[in-house]
Amino acid sequence: MKIGIIGLGYVGLPLAVAFAEAGHEVVGLDTDVRKIEALREGRSYVEDVADEALAPLAGHIRPTADHADLASCNSVIVCVPTPLTSAREPDLTYLVESATALSRVLQPEQLVVLESTTYPGTTRERLAPILEESGMAVGRDFHLAFSPERIDPGRTDHTVRTTPKLVGGVTEACAERARELYAAICDEVIVLSTPEAAELAKLLENIFRSVNIALVNELAQLCDRLGIDVWEVIDAAATKPFGFMRFDPGPGMGGHCLPVDPFYLAFKAREHDFYPEFIELAGKVNQVQPAFCVERVERALNAAGKPVNGSKILILGVSYKAGIGDTRESPALKIARLLRELDGEVTYHDPHVPAVPELGLESVDLAQALRDTDLAAIVTAHPEVDYEELVAKAPLVVDFRGVTRGIEAKNVVRL
Ligand SMILES: NC(=O)c1ccc[n+]([C@@H]2O[C@H](COP(=O)([O-])OP(=O)(O)OC[C@H]3O[C@@H](n4cnc5c(N)ncnc54)[C@H](O)[C@@H]3O)[C@@H](O)[C@H]2O)c1
Repeated sequence: MKIGIIGLGYVGLPLAVAFAEAGHEVVGLDTDVRKIEALREGRSYVEDVADEALAPLAGHIRPTADHADLASCNSVIVCVPTPLTSAREPDLTYLVESATALSRVLQPEQLVVLESTTYPGTTRERLAPILEESGMAVGRDFHLAFSPERIDPGRTDHTVRTTPKLVGGVTEACAERARELYAAICDEVIVLSTPEAAELAKLLENIFRSVNIALVNELAQLCDRLGIDVWEVIDAAATKPFGFMRFDPGPGMGGHCLPVDPFYLAFKAREHDFYPEFIELAGKVNQVQPAFCVERVERALNAAGKPVNGSKILILGVSYKAGIGDTRESPALKIARLLRELDGEVTYHDPHVPAVPELGLESVDLAQALRDTDLAAIVTAHPEVDYEELVAKAPLVVDFRGVTRGIEAKNVVRL
């Protein structure tokens, strides 16, 4: 097969690699010329794709910025961003732009699949009419389906191949084409009755996580008041072999999926005079969590007789999750800003993030920073950091990830 992929980011590039590794030809299109250049030079910019993985695929993935190259593909998969506007409403600009460009080169019999996360109805109500500007009709001249991406950056135990793939076609024939396409790279493809069901299934997965993270974050705040160790409570509950799924509290929710996607559903729900309470409540609890973490830092410093003002505070980990360098919506940035508002002297160490331009900071050397710091706050627990050594060297450690459990020391405060 020859497969076109529009948008070669965290989702599109691993997908391109999966199809190429399965022996198919890939045309990878991106409007960011730096990404096209990097790929032409065999350089990956996504942690989950090593340069060594790209090298043998050089002849199978053709990076391009020219939509005309998509005309020769059997299928085209769209993986462009679906962020929020400043009013926190779905921003489909990238989707509309890429679909408009695709409609100009669309060919009879082609299959188009949307993988970007979005609200139910997008594929049928927004994407199909744009593609039909080509003069062709969906289901008759070309095929259209939705198939959510379920990638979890940094995860190695579940891959594109082993994670079941959901597909929902506008017609049965569309669904069948999508099933055939993904059967080439996934062990299991599950066909749903409509694109809307597939769109909503993806949102449910993310909202499920958001709600459960909010629940344990709220529990952490309550445990703080009650003087109970939240980690001990969660460890205990997690021993139940059924009916409980573990979620850990933390500094707040980051990444561009969990803080963003629920608003896509809330938007669609409002159109139908429905106000989803769980989504709003989870968003509210998770959004105040960084402020709660700052309060914990304040209290820890206070107990040591220091104000935040003028204290040297080292933040460990600024990406939104461990093992990756993505800082989008990271609670660490919020925490850093709040501490600065209190005139704390904030620095950070992150082996995956060399610089954070929006804070005007570069990652500092850990050993050197520990020689002159008042407090180290573990915000994102990257596996490369030796936490025992950290506890031994820092005068005060505030741990928002529970990684110092098992280390008995008087200078550690845990969430
Ligand atoms: N990253 C994840 O973990 C993840 C997981 C599941 C779903 N998703 C969803 O997948 C979609 C893509 O996410 P991502 O993380 O890969 O984003 P990304 O920003 O890493 O990649 C998107 C790419 O699309 C390109 N692009 C933008 N407009 C374009 C256009 N008009 N034509 C061609 N290319 C264009 C960008 O330059 C970028 O390289 C989003 O809807 C996201 O919510 C992401």
